[in-house]
Amino acid sequence: MTKIALITGANKGIGYEIARLLAGQGVTAIVGARDEQRGRAAAERLGQPYVRLDVTDEDGVAAAAKWIEQEYGRLDILVNNAAIAGDPAQAVPSATPARALRDLYETNVFGVVTVTNAMLPLLRTSPAGRIVNMSSELGSLSMAAGADSPFAEATFLAYNSSKSALNMITVLYARELKDTPIKVNAANPGYCATDLNGHTGFRTAEQGAAIAVKLATLDEDGPTGAYLQDDGVLPW
Ligand SMILES: NC(=O)c1ccc[n+]([C@@H]2O[C@H](COP(=O)([O-])OP(=O)(O)OC[C@H]3O[C@@H](n4cnc5c(N)ncnc54)[C@H](OP(=O)(O)O)[C@@H]3O)[C@@H](O)[C@H]2O)c1
Repeated sequence: MTKIALITGANKGIGYEIARLLAGQGVTAIVGARDEQRGRAAAERLGQPYVRLDVTDEDGVAAAAKWIEQEYGRLDILVNNAAIAGDPAQAVPSATPARALRDLYETNVFGVVTVTNAMLPLLRTSPAGRIVNMSSELGSLSMAAGADSPFAEATFLAYNSSKSALNMITVLYARELKDTPIKVNAANPGYCATDLNGHTGFRTAEQGAAIAVKLATLDEDGPTGAYLQDDGVLPW
């Protein structure tokens, strides 16, 4: 049975690569994108279906879920990939206005909850549902708090805390769903050259996609409620 996947923010960057790699494994990789033109163009390049999906638009997300139900009857994989970085100049917490967090959380946090809740009924009909939340090492509280933190300079209040919230969201959904076949994990792609960071990353988007693809295709023995990157587990 062909697996059906939805990847949010799949018109470019790591999300596009996740869709491409999943499609390469025979998965039907639905390209979720808020901009119809960019989304359709990406889906056409991949030879995969497109669905309009702005994660901040609850009605639109509900319509996307309805379309997937009508078209495929279920969903096997949800990759919550869409996110924004916010203003990179806002690296001083005390100089960051609360509204910057509100704006960014709409996409990176509330958007994930909106999409997950809308897609869960479809994931529950899958024999092996998988949810992958695209987190970041910048969301790790342990790493940020360490005296020798490698991210001591990267104090992006809005972005980093949105990914910490996403980590908790991952753990709580995994706990709720622990007696179902659905696995929920957080992925750290590493620092990848994409539009998100003005292409300053030292990894490729394809390299960043690999961990998400691995978690999206975990077998029954795989983890749930975990925070993972290519070489293993990250500290929360
Ligand atoms: N790049 C890195 O170094 C890095 C490191 C750690 C974690 N991550 C995470 O990896 C994921 C992918 O990042 P990326 O680097 O590939 O970023 P990117 O190239 O900027 O792509 C982000 C994607 O999210 C979409 N998006 C933004 N807001 C949306 C909304 N409201 N609804 C639907 N789609 C929306 C964008 O669509 P538009 O084209 O319409 O804007 C785009 O497709 C993100 O969760 C990011 O936080 C990235």
